[in-house]
Amino acid sequence: MEEDVLEDKDLGHDGDAGALWDAMYRSRDRVWSGNPNVQLVAEASDLEPGTALDLGCGEGADALWLAGRGWRVTAVDVSAVALERAARHGAASPHGARVRWIYDDVAAWTGLGTFDLVSAQYLHSPLLPWTTSLRTAEQCASVGGTLLMVGHHPDGLAPWSHHTDPKPYFTPEQLAAELRPDQWLIQVLESRPREITGHDGQHATIQDTVLRARRIA
Ligand SMILES: C[S@@+](CC[C@H](N)C(=O)[O-])C[C@H]1O[C@@H](n2cnc3c(N)ncnc32)[C@H](O)[C@@H]1O
Repeated sequence: MEEDVLEDKDLGHDGDAGALWDAMYRSRDRVWSGNPNVQLVAEASDLEPGTALDLGCGEGADALWLAGRGWRVTAVDVSAVALERAARHGAASPHGARVRWIYDDVAAWTGLGTFDLVSAQYLHSPLLPWTTSLRTAEQCASVGGTLLMVGHHPDGLAPWSHHTDPKPYFTPEQLAAELRPDQWLIQVLESRPREITGHDGQHATIQDTVLRARRIA
């Protein structure tokens, strides 16, 4: 993703995550660039392909990038509009057959088994505490598997962002404090700068929180 597009003023959703995100996606023909997220590319390029779960897959660019590298991908989102676009991109891609697109809510998880890689990229939502996303992501990683959580650092948001609610955002230290050391080997824990361009062409350096951990038990 390039930047925040969901602002606090958009909260006309009556607590329905699908309705909230469908409205955001319907506001533009295409919301994200279609390129994989840079922190995913940085952290997953060297991993041996296996099964992957992309939580909050949006329009599907990360899932299709993983599929192109040989992963069998399960890509989940709560927005039917986003999934319809993702499936369309998948149908046009030579790697689309390696992705299954699933409508589900990370906050009411029913379970899809465990995966060699669980990736959550900017899975921020005013209706979704980050601790809930982390718990779901954790339980979906197989022993020996990798957890990759990437998000906006609460102190490094875009200057034009209108977010006032810090709850969806997390620091590396907050993530690390939630992981049991007897279950997880933390391999990367960083606040990482990233150059972005806003929808009006403005530039800024923001900070990403990046956690990569291997499940050891
Ligand atoms: C900020 S976007 C990021 C999309 C994509 N990961 C990317 O980086 O381009 C957050 C995504 O999470 C999805 N999402 C929000 N709440 C969710 C939930 N409770 N369960 C599943 N997906 C959710 C949204 O529909 C949206 O596609």
